[in-house]
Amino acid sequence: MGKMTLDDLDVTGKKVLIRVDFNVPITDDGQVRDFFRIRAALPTIHNVLDYGGSAILMSHLGRPKGERNMKYSLKPVAEELERRVGIPVKFAPDCVGDDVLRMVKDLKMGEILLLENVRFHPGETTNDAEFACELAKNGELFVNDAFGAAHRKHASIHAVAECFPGKAAAGRLMMRELRFLGRTLTNPKRPFVGVVGGAKVSSKIKMIRGLLSRVDKLLISGGMTYTILKAKGGVIGSSMFEEEFLEEAEKILAHPEADKLLLPADSICAREESIDVPREEYPSDSIPDGWAGLDIGLKAKIAFSNEIKVAKTVLWNGPMGLFELEPFATGTRTIARAMVDMT
Ligand code: 3PG
Repeated sequence: MGKMTLDDLDVTGKKVLIRVDFNVPITDDGQVRDFFRIRAALPTIHNVLDYGGSAILMSHLGRPKGERNMKYSLKPVAEELERRVGIPVKFAPDCVGDDVLRMVKDLKMGEILLLENVRFHPGETTNDAEFACELAKNGELFVNDAFGAAHRKHASIHAVAECFPGKAAAGRLMMRELRFLGRTLTNPKRPFVGVVGGAKVSSKIKMIRGLLSRVDKLLISGGMTYTILKAKGGVIGSSMFEEEFLEEAEKILAHPEADKLLLPADSICAREESIDVPREEYPSDSIPDGWAGLDIGLKAKIAFSNEIKVAKTVLWNGPMGLFELEPFATGTRTIARAMVDMT
């Protein structure tokens, strides 16, 4: 694949700085609510430890905007990781500086150290070279296994790699995802259905045009839905909408293969993002004032499931709605079930 992988590095006796994506949901009382990303990083961590290295893990969590804000501390993740790997996980209260370097120095082979949120420093999101050099002091080798964050040109992902010429490699998760994506996008079994959901309109809406020419059908849900529907002249109430992406939405609609798009015909709506509030189903393009679409409705669930049932390849990115709240999780679960039934 033309990339150095973990197998190309001799980690024995080395301190390996690993960028992981531990951007996981944390409850108000400091518990990790979803373990998927932690589990996904384990093969790389185990590999480094099994071959006699030590693992220094770094990640971001949330968007603390370059300031130290304990709401976004990775400490709860260290505790959860410890439960998952079954050996003690040390936690450094920062990701750069002398105290951290001392902890790195004291780390023995076979041990794990998780550094505090890299986004507590403004240099992270500006891809600052000096900050990256400080981060780089924490390891002798660098492994990027943060597939979920790899699209960010940030210091702990991009600039830091330049500090390790010939000593930077992709981790197990990264390689697995790249192999899967490569195969899927170049030679998928057809029909090939894309499912794009989630709340991050900015990073996802641009993906749609790229996918349209590759898939046979593209199911759209989540935050992008309403920006696209608004561009079509729909009435979307108080649903998530990002004015600055209206133009991109118009381009999507004007795409020669726009007929492959399937938007949710109806939405489960509420006036507030909360569990105990009245819910109504409305056509997604005629949602009354004050109501917001928070999940796909029944017609959409049926239409989406039908597409998945005939698919031979499905590429799924992002939930159908506000699945963190149970009343708005049924759309996401329906799609997951349709996929399970097919496999
Ligand atoms: C994610 O959760 O999508 C990644 O961790 C990237 O997070 P970001 O959108 O805050 O950069």
